[in-house]
Amino acid sequence: MTPILETKDVVVRFGVLQAVSRASIEVIEGRVTGLIGPNGAGKTTCFNVITGLQEPTSGKVLFEGKDITGKNPYKRARLGIARTFQKLEVFGSLSARENILVAAEQRKTWDRSGFSPAAVCDEILEKTGLSDVSEFMVGTLPTGTARLVELARALASNPRVLLLDEPSSGLNEEETAEMATLLRTFVAEGLAVLLVEHDMSFVMGTCEYIHVLDFGTIIASGTPSEVQANSAVQAAYLGTETVEEAS
Ligand SMILES: Nc1ncnc2c1ncn2[C@@H]1O[C@H](COP(=O)(O)OP(=O)(O)O)[C@@H](O)[C@H]1O
Ligand SMILES: [Mg+2]
Repeated sequence: MTPILETKDVVVRFGVLQAVSRASIEVIEGRVTGLIGPNGAGKTTCFNVITGLQEPTSGKVLFEGKDITGKNPYKRARLGIARTFQKLEVFGSLSARENILVAAEQRKTWDRSGFSPAAVCDEILEKTGLSDVSEFMVGTLPTGTARLVELARALASNPRVLLLDEPSSGLNEEETAEMATLLRTFVAEGLAVLLVEHDMSFVMGTCEYIHVLDFGTIIASGTPSEVQANSAVQAAYLGTETVEEAS
């Protein structure tokens, strides 16, 4: 299967620190790909390289086989790359509906398919189960709901690839399970997801394929059972927590 998105030998140096070392990641349509690893492994930096917020020291980012390494973030968004942030980024003083509408209106500037932003908004509110809280100011909503608003806003740009940076952070077990179910429905419709996540049951239950980063290097790539059985992966998590127990 041809990846819709790829990084090829990406290196990121911050002064003397090599945050990412020749990382090659493949993201395929219709599946959730995991990007896991201990704190500081370089996961968020990889997201920043993919979305154009961080220029790589060397290496490439390809979208549908085309080199997009030099493209501005907004051009990548237009290609269909959307993301959420590790630290929740929503407009707290706008309603849930308005948060989504901002993204749908933005999409109007490049998507000439004649869609109605209001209709897109309603559809996404419905799909994400946010219809009942659509008029609430997001700053007043619980974290779990605000995380869903951030996801809904990312979906309003009609992405082909969605990068999620620790979407379960601040969510309880039940909300995490709901998030996982929701992701599966979008992936079943053909969306490609790259998931950075600490909750191992979420990762192992949702991802078809996983890349494991440690100190900037991909130390293993494979199915959930392959990476769980990998001794380098077990060693990377030792001293903190084992892969099975991590949450
Ligand atoms: N803008 C930056 N300047 C300097 N160092 C950075 C910067 N961003 C990240 N780092 C460092 O790069 C490493 C990887 O960080 P990050 O990608 O955030 O890891 P992760 O998301 O896997 O926890 C860490 O050591 C972090 O301190
Ligand atoms: Mg991070």
